[in-house]
Amino acid sequence: MSQFYQRHFLRLLDFTPAEINALLALAAELKIAKKNGDEVPQLRGKNIALIFEKESTRTRCSFEVAAYDQGARVTYLGPSGSQIGHKESIKDTARVLGRIYDGIQYRGYGQAVVETLAQYAGVPVWNGLTDEFHPTQLLADLLTMQEHLPEKSLRAMTLAYVGDARNNMGNSMMEAAALTGLDLRLVAPKSCWPDESLVAECQAVASQNGGRITLTEDIAAGVRQADFIYTDVWVSMGEAKERWQERIALLRDYQVNMAMLQLTGNPQVKFLHCLPALHDDQTTLGKQMAEQYQLHGGMEVTDEVFESEHSIVFDQAENRLHTIKAVMIATLAKPVEQA
Ligand code: CP
Ligand code: NVA
Repeated sequence: MSQFYQRHFLRLLDFTPAEINALLALAAELKIAKKNGDEVPQLRGKNIALIFEKESTRTRCSFEVAAYDQGARVTYLGPSGSQIGHKESIKDTARVLGRIYDGIQYRGYGQAVVETLAQYAGVPVWNGLTDEFHPTQLLADLLTMQEHLPEKSLRAMTLAYVGDARNNMGNSMMEAAALTGLDLRLVAPKSCWPDESLVAECQAVASQNGGRITLTEDIAAGVRQADFIYTDVWVSMGEAKERWQERIALLRDYQVNMAMLQLTGNPQVKFLHCLPALHDDQTTLGKQMAEQYQLHGGMEVTDEVFESEHSIVFDQAENRLHTIKAVMIATLAKPVEQA
């Protein structure tokens, strides 16, 4: 794993297909070790800063528990309470935290921010979600797909990502497909397709790795024979709440429901979601949306699908821990040959 030592983890296309496979294999090993109770701590004495300019449950908890399991300590820096961004620039913050910490996780807005941190910190910086990319999520998703279809390689799998594809998940999904050789269909209205230049970049990489990235508005064609259907929230963090009305009108037909699962023609099709999901009206937002737009029983996915045997969303959520731990160890633990 020495090729990862002291590197940043900012977006998937910074890595080769072999490197992505190596991280997935390490995560699978770490998962087994944790379950067997024989995990070996490799990050003793390391201190890690966790910067969160947006909310989080899975990412924050995964970084914290991964650090604790591995013998490291963390400091959580939330959206308020530090000087970041208000009184102190990202460049200065990077240079300060880089003197104090061994690694920095950043969740926030522009990808340029996490890149600036990485440029000046002098220690590994990990992207825990920006407006543009969510690379650690994709590692968890790929591991979950491998676990649920062990008889197929990623290269032989078909994934239909349905809904808002013009966001961090759509972008990272394309990068993952480009590197692994997945048959990826982005099924969305044209205005929710990712930026053309990124599509072209990912399609070029995909063609070298045997992958296919298709963009379509045609739901039936897009989901046909899919092994996995994936969706995400229709309005992402940081987007204006006023966008809900427009997105609901655009994406209503792209809701993942039982009829869509049947359209795949694959009775074994699995459902994926990075979470959090608006699948019922049990949350404040879900309740408000259900009342305002008369969409009871789910927004981007119905409660019926979410709670069905097709759904593997909690395996995905758990795999955030194991894959984030793999990234931390690969980039931060001194390789044996250099120890
Ligand atoms: N999927 C994900 O990143 O979840 P959180 O926002 O809870 O971290
Ligand atoms: N696209 C979503 C992903 C959440 C994990 C968001 O950015 O809010």
